[in-house]
Amino acid sequence: MKTLVLANQKGGVGKSAICCLLAYHFARLGLRTLVLDLDHQGHATAPLTASGKATVSALTSDRALTDAAAMVEPGDFVLVSAGYQGLLSLESQPDRHNEFARNLRGFLHRMGERFDVCVVDTGPNPDIRVVSALVSADYVLAPIDLGQEAISGIVNLFNAPRVGIATIHARLNPRLQFLGMLPNRVKAVPLHKANLLKVMSSSAYRSKLLARVDKPESGGDFMFLADRMVIQQCQANGQFVADVRGQTAARETWAEVKPVLDRVAEMMGVSK
Ligand SMILES: Nc1ncnc2c1ncn2[C@@H]1O[C@H](COP(=O)(O)OP(=O)(O)O)[C@@H](O)[C@H]1O
Ligand SMILES: [Mg+2]
Repeated sequence: MKTLVLANQKGGVGKSAICCLLAYHFARLGLRTLVLDLDHQGHATAPLTASGKATVSALTSDRALTDAAAMVEPGDFVLVSAGYQGLLSLESQPDRHNEFARNLRGFLHRMGERFDVCVVDTGPNPDIRVVSALVSADYVLAPIDLGQEAISGIVNLFNAPRVGIATIHARLNPRLQFLGMLPNRVKAVPLHKANLLKVMSSSAYRSKLLARVDKPESGGDFMFLADRMVIQQCQANGQFVADVRGQTAARETWAEVKPVLDRVAEMMGVSK
């Protein structure tokens, strides 16, 4: 099983929306897909539950950290939903943090026999949930926005003392592969263009954009997702963009989104 974590301490960058898009896409490709929602806000849990596509496990995500024998029901597309109180109580038990990380590792290991991929959504708190997910993951993808503080936010994404991706890679998980930053909700406005140019002209960050693809037909050197109403609506209604029928906007949005999801699958070595 390949485990991918969506991470960025900044809220509203699209972690949950992209988590859901990837989960639907993986499941539709025929991959046995597990989703773990570690954000107590449950922004992946609600749409995936409403979609009716995933089996909602009786196990809540906090117990994947607290219960050494945590298991999920049979199914090829299973959601371990956000446990609100349980998730919020983890950080205040520092003497158990090693145990939590160990339990999550064991859980993912057991799930490895049943699933091909696991997609993990995380929240804005730089806490033991994110640390535990990143220390046991294979891959991490970081949606970013191109708003005001884009560049300073990126520094934090890599170098934050506890949950920075470079920090975790260096100290706790040398196996962790950073797939890249994925600019999301990109608009054709001067601020976004200026910030994108800043990232692209930064020697440190340009190479960290998602998948500088060498295929010219992919539309350039790096990938991004535009700001599209259809994505927001689907996330609000628990729908998969690819399933929306009879709407030109949905068809066009899917044509933009699919190559990004395929590229992530390819980088994870799970494409079909
Ligand atoms: N590409 C996009 N186009 C339009 N809306 C988007 C896009 N990506 C995410 N959204 C919406 O933006 C809001 C924040 O996204 P979300 O995934 O919840 O961010 P995060 O999980 O990082 O806090 C949600 O309402 C979501 O539906
Ligand atoms: Mg979220």
